[in-house]
Amino acid sequence: MTNRTTIIANWKMQLSVEESVALSSAIVNKTKNLNLDNIDIILCPDFLSIPMVGDVIKNSNISLGSQDVFWKEKGSFTGEVSSDNLKYFNVKYSIVGHSERRKFLKENDEMINQKMISCIKNDIVPILCVGESFEERRNDQKDFVIISQVRNAFKGIEFRDVKKIFIAYEPVWVIGSGQAIDPIEAEHTNLIIKEAVLEAFLSEGKNVRRDEINEKLHLIYGGSVDDSNISEFMSQENIYGVLVGGASLKIDSFMSLLNIVNNL
Ligand code: 13P
Repeated sequence: MTNRTTIIANWKMQLSVEESVALSSAIVNKTKNLNLDNIDIILCPDFLSIPMVGDVIKNSNISLGSQDVFWKEKGSFTGEVSSDNLKYFNVKYSIVGHSERRKFLKENDEMINQKMISCIKNDIVPILCVGESFEERRNDQKDFVIISQVRNAFKGIEFRDVKKIFIAYEPVWVIGSGQAIDPIEAEHTNLIIKEAVLEAFLSEGKNVRRDEINEKLHLIYGGSVDDSNISEFMSQENIYGVLVGGASLKIDSFMSLLNIVNNL
């Protein structure tokens, strides 16, 4: 895998349009004189803020992501947002299957799989979120849950597209808790995720190359990442980036993450 690091800000539904514009302008200003050759920054505002944030970042190296996308390109799907319309605003990434959507919007593995397929078809990189709840963990179901989320999400995906996919391990129970998991456990889980991806392709009789999965699959971690723990996550061999909620909402805390990663 490359030594590039990806820092993804998931602003969830925490900011007004004005606040999203102000925060993205501040990020552009504070990063313009930094040498960020090895860092990719992706901002994921809410849908309504996407056009204006896109405008703010258009001459920078910062990319735009969405927090969700629908799996059909067009049709009678009231309230949904298509990949075509996202692409019109230069959205290059989309979070898919975040645990908050699985929980509050009842998104299931089948919907998530369709979103993965549609993203790839439409040149949007899906950032697939997987992770166990506290209950599942307590019942020793953690690995099983993650393997099954990965395998279901990868149904029907071609092996050549593995390089266009991000997977974020986000243990549901640490999100927003201020207490991240041990980075060594996150590293171990990412190894399990790699195996699960391999198995997903093998179970469909596809020709797979383990070294390509090692090289191309972009694995990240999310859940209470802040300036006290980011360097330890980034020092793991199989964690290539972070998906950040709370610490991405203020310019100081976000810049602090960027500066730490930039000085590693
Ligand atoms: P926190 O960083 O606030 O725990 O949120 C993580 C998350 O859900 C990112 O998608």
